[in-house]
Amino acid sequence: MVQLFIASVIFCTVSATVWWLWHWLVIITEGIYFGPRIVVWLYDREAFRYDDIKLYEMEDELILVVEPVLGELDGRENPILLDVATGTGRVPQFLYQDGRFRDQLNGKVIGVDASRKMLDLGIKNLAPIKNNCDWLQGSASELTFDQDMFDCVTCLESLEFFPDPLQALDEMIRVLKPNGSMLVTRRAGWEAKWFLGRYYSQTDFADLLRKKGLTDVVLYQWQNNYDLAIGRKPKIDETV
Ligand SMILES: C[S@@+](CC[C@H](N)C(=O)[O-])C[C@H]1O[C@@H](n2cnc3c(N)ncnc32)[C@H](O)[C@@H]1O
Repeated sequence: MVQLFIASVIFCTVSATVWWLWHWLVIITEGIYFGPRIVVWLYDREAFRYDDIKLYEMEDELILVVEPVLGELDGRENPILLDVATGTGRVPQFLYQDGRFRDQLNGKVIGVDASRKMLDLGIKNLAPIKNNCDWLQGSASELTFDQDMFDCVTCLESLEFFPDPLQALDEMIRVLKPNGSMLVTRRAGWEAKWFLGRYYSQTDFADLLRKKGLTDVVLYQWQNNYDLAIGRKPKIDETV
């Protein structure tokens, strides 16, 4: 009887540990501790249901994405926006659906993502909308663009999944034009602390962006699991 009890306790403990490891390493952190190929493989594999999970709606995206981006692009003509880890095209989709970015600013979006399947869905999502969007499969760690190219760089819900988030930030800032704005999310909530080695508090994240050279950094609660940070690359005459 005692042996059965001990065996049951061991079985339950091992099962719970295995479940938690799987939940942490695959569900919460999406394979980052197994390397970038696994992350991309998981996104390729799950792309078909991504939009059904997220259920993005124009009503929300207007506040979360469209207005913050348009606010940063105020007064710019023919802006080019780079959306890093564009996924199924959330940023271009809602910017073009809203219309002001295209019709008033004559703006153009380039979406980069490492997952072919996510990009293919983005292309499909954007097809019915008259748009001006280019797509590129590639890594956030090595953006294949010249420096100072983009009026705005966005990177939503993705930084923590990159193999080297700091290098990706450097790359995004490199390709941003002086006086251009970057909008990047910081993972928040209890799960954020399970991104061991890549967790930043709100203060630390804002400080990190400042240390990387951005100015006018603001950070606010954005979605349940994310904060949005916005910063500006200084104009040439602002840099010392
Ligand atoms: C949670 S999704 C976010 C997609 C989109 N930004 C959104 O808000 O819906 C994370 C995206 O990061 C992409 N990704 C992961 N690692 C990447 C990398 N190293 N370089 C570029 N994209 C990457 C994935 O393929 C996926 O599309």
